[in-house]
Amino acid sequence: MKKLMVAKSAGFCFGVSRSVKMAEEMLAAEQNCYSLGELIHNDDVVQHLRSEGLTVVDGPEQIPQGASVIIRSHGEGKEVYDRLAAMGCPVADATCVKVAKIHEIVKDASDRGRQVIIIGAPEHPEVRAIAGWCIGAKIFRNEAELTVFLEEWKENPQKPVTLVSQTTSTDRIWTPCREKVKKECTNAEIFDTICNATCMRQSEAQSLAEQCEAMIVIGDRKSSNTTRLAELCRAHCPLVYNISRAEELDRRKVSGVASVGITAGASTPGWIIKEVKDKMSEEMNNAMEIEESFADMLEKSIKTLNTGDKVTGVVTGITATEVNVDLGTKHAGYIPVSELTDDPT
Ligand code: F3S
Repeated sequence: MKKLMVAKSAGFCFGVSRSVKMAEEMLAAEQNCYSLGELIHNDDVVQHLRSEGLTVVDGPEQIPQGASVIIRSHGEGKEVYDRLAAMGCPVADATCVKVAKIHEIVKDASDRGRQVIIIGAPEHPEVRAIAGWCIGAKIFRNEAELTVFLEEWKENPQKPVTLVSQTTSTDRIWTPCREKVKKECTNAEIFDTICNATCMRQSEAQSLAEQCEAMIVIGDRKSSNTTRLAELCRAHCPLVYNISRAEELDRRKVSGVASVGITAGASTPGWIIKEVKDKMSEEMNNAMEIEESFADMLEKSIKTLNTGDKVTGVVTGITATEVNVDLGTKHAGYIPVSELTDDPT
């Protein structure tokens, strides 16, 4: 391998980095805190926070009255906030500002009697939380699902539509949905809420994948943005490996390729990216050392001559003016007839 490129946008996004920092601050002040779901999709970080005193629970019913709670960057629905307030739980709200903005949009749309449509994965916590800020949101994964709904909706368009997207969606999914709603719905409000940190990471990953013979995508397989990054890379690069940490990297798989790109999902901490990068750099140095030592061996196998050396060679040709001699060096030797002698002294 001769070239290793690491995406500048690889790793923690602003929202994730803020949530981890808030959790660490909260745990520094108080040993027993709760998080609704794992703070981020990364086992190492979650384990570290657990060891510091963070208990991960599935819902408010598992939290004792008055205990401190952190809300992760995916956010939570309004009901959860109301419940925690009723239980007297102090809340550290690490909902990403970009996700909180979507909550505002859908709440406002719903208050004005509009039908909210979310383009995203219905089971994803961020999408469930968005739906929790409006009444009767419809959630569709893609244009095909949206089309089925709009066919029926066209017959009976009681409400104007407000369209938003999960922050980690892709242009490939979002653009046809947006165009469909534009075409089919009158008075539609459309908010492109894909996060630009996600867009940047995706487009950088794509461009690296186009330039490299192999791509390593680092991130937990539970993380939807990591999965999407790997999918996008696969469309441009034949060898894509999704690993969650350096130990999973089998260097033999990439040792024969000329260039390797590295990117990482938004929940991948910098130290894991560094471990993978160091491991690959080692591989690269080894490959260079092997190349260099092969060149040395080749060089050493060929004799060099210095002025004054006495050498023995094999006559390979005789002409009227010179004798050609193979001396086992890079270049053939020539002895002009004028310098030739048969005197052994
Ligand atoms: Fe926020 Fe974007 Fe990250 S929405 S949590 S900055 S991917």
